[in-house]
Amino acid sequence: MTLPRLSFLGTGYLGATYAICFAELGYEVIGVDVDRAKIQALTGGRVPFHEPGLDDLLRRNLAKGRLSFSTDYADAANRAEVHFICVGTPQRGDGMGADLTYVEQAVTQLAPLIKRRALIVGKSTVPVGTASWVEQLVAKLADPALGVEVAWSPEFLQEGFAVEDVLRPNRIVAGVRSAWANDLLAAAHKGVFDLAATEDREVPLVITDFATAELVKVAANAFLATKISFINAMAEVCEVAGADVTQLARAIGYDPRIGNKFLQAGLGFGGGCLPKDIRAFQARAQELGAGEALRFLHEVDLINTRRRGRVLHLAAELLGRPVGPAGPDLSGTRVAVLGAAFKPNSDDVRDAPSLAAAAALAAAGAEVRVYDPQAMANARRAQPALGYAESLTDAVNEAELVVVATEWAEFRNADPAVLGGLVAAKRVIDGRNCLDPAQWVRAGWTYRGMGRPPA
Ligand code: UDX
Repeated sequence: MTLPRLSFLGTGYLGATYAICFAELGYEVIGVDVDRAKIQALTGGRVPFHEPGLDDLLRRNLAKGRLSFSTDYADAANRAEVHFICVGTPQRGDGMGADLTYVEQAVTQLAPLIKRRALIVGKSTVPVGTASWVEQLVAKLADPALGVEVAWSPEFLQEGFAVEDVLRPNRIVAGVRSAWANDLLAAAHKGVFDLAATEDREVPLVITDFATAELVKVAANAFLATKISFINAMAEVCEVAGADVTQLARAIGYDPRIGNKFLQAGLGFGGGCLPKDIRAFQARAQELGAGEALRFLHEVDLINTRRRGRVLHLAAELLGRPVGPAGPDLSGTRVAVLGAAFKPNSDDVRDAPSLAAAAALAAAGAEVRVYDPQAMANARRAQPALGYAESLTDAVNEAELVVVATEWAEFRNADPAVLGGLVAAKRVIDGRNCLDPAQWVRAGWTYRGMGRPPA
């Protein structure tokens, strides 16, 4: 079987990762983006964001000549038979629904340029119903004699593990309309199935209709968000009952029906997907008349944001500061915030609980110094008014309170005895329950975790 040639429209986090990984699987790939700076970086062998392992794969596949990038949609139309839409679907101005402008632009630019029978595959996370709408758009804009078709195949990438998630996905889901689309999509994923076969694994393939394929993605993210908020709700109860949520999570996680993943209580979820997706899902369900079915996601969101406030109150408690009607007054205190990325091994600060907590501490009057191993540039851009430090030691120097807000290995493995020699007072809030309380207490620190009794 000759492999189809692939294009990835939009070379942001999703599209660039897919384009590079599919070139690695042996496909001839072109990535297209209207952003010249991105295309220049990628063409020059530089990934414009932090994702472990991706730089090497980019350079290797550029050198092999299987991978190219362009700002011209005509290049995608001329060179590929399968076009993956990987553009962003940001939160709308109303703070709830998804903005489909970029999807519309990508399809509008590509469809009239297509000269042979081709398949346009949506990957972006979209409200249910979008695939049918794209299909109508394509019917209007593409030459009807060619028989251009649409399919929808959501992605499930986790930042920090994205290369593995593309090369070794735990499933492939595709909404298709015809046997032709089904076969072409199978050919476009042959590399993934072949790799699995050589490693004695199987990648389940779920072929379904458009609406189900679209919903799979948002349902999966809604479930993950709910799981995190569930354990954070338990953390709230543990805090008033004197119980330890980390032990509770371990104990319930042994039940295979529950499972031990995504039960890490802490500052809550952030990033470019979970918060935005659960809001867009609620908005869409409301439009469809099923708003009540997803009302619990509103609660999931509330529990999640409440955790950020918890850090503020813990800080006041540890620092012995008053809590007035307007909230805690932390003026005159120095607080080190360790972590700005929404999770470790990422430089992404979108909706990062760490930065939100840092901003809340600063708004309460604390002099905040934020340090992150990878996300400094993005953090400075997102929250320019916050104080920043160049290193872990610089951040904690003379601090009266240290808040661990992202569980980077650099923080987990830091020696509390060494840090203790730098700070003005040994107080730590473990916002991710990622430290060993006993070790910190032995080194003389006052330790407070999330949903755990004081150590
Ligand atoms: C998520 C989904 O996992 C992925 O499948 C989807 O394609 C995109 O959204 P990602 O945003 O990369 O991926 O991050 P993820 O690892 O899921 O973490 C999301 C947030 O939840 C992070 O802020 C993380 O710190 C937090 N989290 C995760 C918890 O607070 N507790 C947990 O137990 C797990």
